[in-house]
Amino acid sequence: MPALVVVGAQWGDEGKGKVVDLYTPFADLVVRYAGGANAGHTLVVRGEKVILHLIPSGILHEGQNCVIAQGTVLDPAVLLQEIAALEQRGVSVRGRLLISDRAHVVLPVHKLVDELTEAKSGGKIGTTKRGIGPTYQDKAARRGVRFGDLQRPELLRQKLEANFAGWKPVVESMGGTLPDLEAVLAQYVDFAKQLAGFVSDTGVVVGEAVKRGDRILLEGAQGTMLDLDHGTYPYVTSSSAVSGGACTGAGIGPTAITKVIGISKAYATRVGGGPFPSELFGEEGDALRKAGHEFGSTTGRPRRCGWIDAPALRLAVRVNGMDEIALTKLDVLTGRDEIRICVAYEQNGQRLLEPPYEGWDDLRPVYETFPGWKEPIGGCRTRAELPENARRYLARLEELVGCRIGIVSVGPDREETADLVDPFGR
Ligand code: IMP
Repeated sequence: MPALVVVGAQWGDEGKGKVVDLYTPFADLVVRYAGGANAGHTLVVRGEKVILHLIPSGILHEGQNCVIAQGTVLDPAVLLQEIAALEQRGVSVRGRLLISDRAHVVLPVHKLVDELTEAKSGGKIGTTKRGIGPTYQDKAARRGVRFGDLQRPELLRQKLEANFAGWKPVVESMGGTLPDLEAVLAQYVDFAKQLAGFVSDTGVVVGEAVKRGDRILLEGAQGTMLDLDHGTYPYVTSSSAVSGGACTGAGIGPTAITKVIGISKAYATRVGGGPFPSELFGEEGDALRKAGHEFGSTTGRPRRCGWIDAPALRLAVRVNGMDEIALTKLDVLTGRDEIRICVAYEQNGQRLLEPPYEGWDDLRPVYETFPGWKEPIGGCRTRAELPENARRYLARLEELVGCRIGIVSVGPDREETADLVDPFGR
């Protein structure tokens, strides 16, 4: 029963979209298990750009069945936009996409609270303002609206009333005004009609696939360092972004997971606030941002860029139980005289091999420097074909983080990938 988890090993935006796209032809079912419209993959469909935030990009593969599972939070307006954008481009969605009746629904109040909280703190966390945190807050507070509730207008009304009563003092204390309940109810009842055909008990669907021994691709969102439990708290997202989140998020037991692949860029990026010890500033940071086109696909914000961070990756290898790393964007480092790896942090005279619980301001990155390579690598299809200095960089990285590197992405196109093999095959 091969179930493969693809998880972000850094701060999100590692290139999971490309890797999932490469692995999808090998899978029977693709399941998105966490996060919401804070994620974003830019895809080109029949020559036109489409950005998917919620629907797994596996949907672009003809005949592929996809699930959005209960660990996610869903904004119905975004879902409908994505379905419409895909259908306009001739991609069939109906009958192939199932959405969990237990996934929590993002309401207008969640986006409002997200915005007001960010404004009040001066953008401290730098959220995507998609209402993700407040929706998960409601889930934990046991007053959330679930996707299945949308199909039952009377229940929905009761839930909205309780929900609004809960948020009213919070919103008003921040100088905001709650939206009109009747208008929200009418809008969400309308969404429900349009989405009725997608609602499913996806836990059972995924469970049956596990029993049959289907090949299941579990697609994570965001990354390990943004995970609520393991990331750089409080500068994190509000969901379980690690591989363990696939169990709760998709409704499968840990014994069903047969492999975990962590995605990492050959350097590091982060969007929003929070610790980033190996960040590059000024011209150096700008150059990397430009070379890697590092601008967010959900918010358009410029991403902070820096050297690859081995302590953060060690944490990712440990908490995800990573079997291998898929390394992306190696080509972005081509042409540099020197490349660095942050191998450890130094804090108060101590050398740290993993991120600390606190004290980020006193941290100093410790680097190893490597000679770069000038040869273009987009044509390399095996690791052996890479320039020697690139191979040395990869080998040292494997040694430092204690995990082998499997596929290496050497350009944005599907073909620009070295050592691609069937991920379910081993
Ligand atoms: P939220 O998930 O919108 O609450 O944002 C919390 C933090 O996670 C912010 O720093 C966001 O920039 C970051 N974040 C959320 N989703 C993504 C993502 O898909 N890629 C990168 N960063 C993300």
